Amino acid sequence: GAAVEVDIADIKPGEKKTVEWRGKPVWIVRRTPEQVAALSKVSSQLADPKSERKPGELTPEYARNEARSIKPEFFVAVGICSHLGCSPSDKFQAGAQPSLPDDWTGGFLCPCHGSTFDMAGRVFKNKPAPDNLEVPPHMYLSDSKLLIG
Ligand code: FES
Repeated sequence: GAAVEVDIADIKPGEKKTVEWRGKPVWIVRRTPEQVAALSKVSSQLADPKSERKPGELTPEYARNEARSIKPEFFVAVGICSHLGCSPSDKFQAGAQPSLPDDWTGGFLCPCHGSTFDMAGRVFKNKPAPDNLEVPPHMYLSDSKLLIG
């Protein structure tokens, strides 16, 4: 399908916009500085913290960093769980859900079988989902315009 142009200027810190690309939901999350800072704290708990699995398929070269993004502030991902394809929900906040660990620093929770992902879509260890969320091909046309695909 065609590439999708997204206006990102109206996304507030801590919020998410969802657009459709190739029939899939694509999230654009604007992370707060605290959410960016938390990424380095959870690395030891993640299955693939450096996004080394399926390079090019799950994570484009330019997003193979801790934040899995071009700009640390913005996280772009396909919102489909790598287990059986449910759509994880936002659990950005600590204490948002009783089933989350006490030291939860924010991320996403798959409602189907409980896989958890951090704010860069990296899956936690010992969860049904085998892989991180997919980062789709994308580029910035300007500070306020993103092109997905
Ligand atoms: Fe997400 Fe099973 S589909 S944990």
